[in-house]
Amino acid sequence: MRKGIIYCLLLLASFSAALAQNYDESKVPLYVLPDVLKTTGGKVIRSGEKWEKLRRPEVLRLFEDNIYGRMPVDYDSIRYMLTQDDVPEMDGKAVLKQVTVTVFRNKQSVQINVVLFVPTQPRKPVPVFLLINNRGKDNTDPTRVKKSEFWPAEMVVDSGFAIAAFHVSDLAPDDKETYMTGILEKLYPEQLNMDNGMKAIGAWAWGASRVMDYFETDRDIDAKKVIVVGHSRGGKTSLWAAAQDQRFAACVTNCSGNTGAALARRQFGERISRINTTFPHWFNNNYKQFNDKESALPVDQHMLISLIAPRPVYATNASKDLWADPTGTFLAMKAAEPVYALYNIKPELPKDPPGINTPVIGSHFGYHNREGEHNMTAYDWGNFIRFAKKF
Ligand code: GCU
Repeated sequence: MRKGIIYCLLLLASFSAALAQNYDESKVPLYVLPDVLKTTGGKVIRSGEKWEKLRRPEVLRLFEDNIYGRMPVDYDSIRYMLTQDDVPEMDGKAVLKQVTVTVFRNKQSVQINVVLFVPTQPRKPVPVFLLINNRGKDNTDPTRVKKSEFWPAEMVVDSGFAIAAFHVSDLAPDDKETYMTGILEKLYPEQLNMDNGMKAIGAWAWGASRVMDYFETDRDIDAKKVIVVGHSRGGKTSLWAAAQDQRFAACVTNCSGNTGAALARRQFGERISRINTTFPHWFNNNYKQFNDKESALPVDQHMLISLIAPRPVYATNASKDLWADPTGTFLAMKAAEPVYALYNIKPELPKDPPGINTPVIGSHFGYHNREGEHNMTAYDWGNFIRFAKKF
């Protein structure tokens, strides 16, 4: 009996230790990041050309196999249908387009619904912000009855940019029981049997690339200037989308935290074990091997940002969102600088993280830590626009 109680107490203690999150900077363990410039064969990369030829494909494969899953590139055909075209909106400042993107493979298909506002003012084609929407669909209300800071269409249009969005549920429901009922079961069932097969976040990123396919056909849009944006789980996705699809001109990752822009090895705030337990449907099976074993990962998140080089990246955090580790995000960007340096891009970020509400906006890196809660607000968007104008 006594033995039983002791056993239960021990079990409880180890369970709560696993759940306990560290928010104390002095308790961040000493860690060594994997060298982004050294190939697995030990070769040191010294040029952008060698990075792209030797190391970049290797790093991409490591992320696919250990975290986000393989990204399928093949499909049989794709069709774009404009269900609304050139509808004047916003007192004539913009036109509304609604597009259904249908992708076919092995006689099955999925549909992605895109909402797009194009400003009437600047000469076309225009650059566009594409939001991977992981919140309610009403945040991207095409009727503009509901206006949300999460997708401030009027503000973006007034700045001369188009703004678009699609909802993650068109690709994979954000639910551990049903995530496979979207593109996974319909188009890529083989991925479900692979330990390195993609799950929800891979599927959402795949969706962003299909919307990119559409932009390449829309004469109103400058497809060379598509900025992919995501918040939180959507921000993990925008990074992954930009990392593996080099057609995206730039990436905005807002409060993306663990397995987004923050370094895993700091073990600050959310950890891999926690994200894999609460959201087992986001990352591939192999990732579960790294629960409580951050230092065994062959990558860390600075290497994900490096995959986007030399394209611009803006990462944000919120002061009360320690769960997402604002400092770890800043340090990941700093640790990606050597890859940008291969393209002669000088460090644009200061040595230490800037203060709250002090955006640092260079032509390749943008970073801020907004005062407040985990969210994406007009303040954040205002800075994304400043950043986009800069590059
Ligand atoms: C949870 C999760 C985070 C994620 C966030 C979100 O808090 O732990 O990793 O970023 O949800 O998507 O809002």
